[in-house]
Amino acid sequence: MSLKLLIIFVHLHILLAVSGEYKSYVGYKVYQVTPKTKSEQNHLRSLSLSTELYDFWSIPKKLGEKSNVLVPPKLQETFERFLRKLNITYAVAIDDVETRVQRERFLQSVVRTFSQSIKFNRYYRYDEITHYFDNLARKYPKLVTVKTVGKSFENRDIKAITISKHSIEPKNTILVDAGIHAREWIAPATALYIVHELVENYAKNKNLLKNLNWVILPVVNPDGYEYSHTKERFWRKTRKPYGNCIGTDPNRNFDFHWNEIGASSNPCSETFRGENAFSETEAIALRDLMRSISRDCKFYLSLHSYGQYMLYPWGYTESLPETWKEIDDVAQSGASAIRKASGSQYTVGSSTNVLYAAAGGSDDYALGVEEIPISITMELPSGSGSDLNGFDPSPNKIQSIVEESWIGIKAMASSVDEKFRNATKGFR
Ligand code: ARG
Ligand code: ZN
Repeated sequence: MSLKLLIIFVHLHILLAVSGEYKSYVGYKVYQVTPKTKSEQNHLRSLSLSTELYDFWSIPKKLGEKSNVLVPPKLQETFERFLRKLNITYAVAIDDVETRVQRERFLQSVVRTFSQSIKFNRYYRYDEITHYFDNLARKYPKLVTVKTVGKSFENRDIKAITISKHSIEPKNTILVDAGIHAREWIAPATALYIVHELVENYAKNKNLLKNLNWVILPVVNPDGYEYSHTKERFWRKTRKPYGNCIGTDPNRNFDFHWNEIGASSNPCSETFRGENAFSETEAIALRDLMRSISRDCKFYLSLHSYGQYMLYPWGYTESLPETWKEIDDVAQSGASAIRKASGSQYTVGSSTNVLYAAAGGSDDYALGVEEIPISITMELPSGSGSDLNGFDPSPNKIQSIVEESWIGIKAMASSVDEKFRNATKGFR
């Protein structure tokens, strides 16, 4: 691109930013807070629960882990005063979030749509993903079927793709979803990479389709996903309004120990659980999809970001499911495959024990109600080794993250295949 063009681009972007099309993050900071003691950690946790003013991107469970918090300019003084009073160590990790967001938006715009084959150098919009699926269905009619499994609040189709090699032998099914949370863009990217590998690199991956069918739902929450692209980069929830605030956390909306812990009754909260269980059409769509395949589905994998965790039930209690060792086995196989391939470390354990308690999640529901025996939430990386890039690994990092993640997902799929290959059909 010529310099002139580049300048026009940059100007255009600044114009869009000031014209109010995008929420501005000017002066917003991300603080990296490191509690040194249990008591400091508890103070931080209570702060995160007591107010909706700060956006806690992560809350440390283990001592020594860092917490990243997005704080608007007006609240920075109060926030810093709070930390200083308690003598909690902190640093500014991102000084001006707007600069980051604009850089990402610019990088996104330089690389436009893919024409021939999909490239993992850009985060794709909902429409592009839909077109990609429709093209695959046309090009590989024997391998691929695309269906609409529900509608979002704003009436977008929620689409799932089934990849299945015809045979008379019965097969087990793996269900992968992503994009329950809008801003976690690397998750839909990873789901697309799985589709790309299984379909367009079939020859290389055919062992994964010999005994297995794959169902992939890359954007569970398309309204939120689009909103995070066009209006507010760090939007997390759905888009249905409740009074003065908008959106429900779909991962608190599932009907299993709903609202018991780690979910908010305040519609303005990032973890609002909805007015009742399954009040959100997006959660219903995923539930119905699970239900329609639950007889053969042995593995449910929910992709989120960030933090590098393999999480499994329960998220609503400290105690573990009876079958936790089986699930742990699968999760460990994923983590160790990744460790061997790239050195990246994943923390493996139950959500409540290694991250935080939060009820109403899709993973708990899959195991607890639909009885899908292996249910795992994978928290993907954030970008650079440290977690400074949060939800926005730079577009040039996408390829390496999705490749690495695929190594772990393949290992988990093989482990599930081995465990359940000879299980009698319809018998769990
Ligand atoms: N970061 C995810 C969330 O907050 C973790 C979900 C883990 N599962 C659970 N049931 N809490 O939704
Ligand atoms: Zn998430």
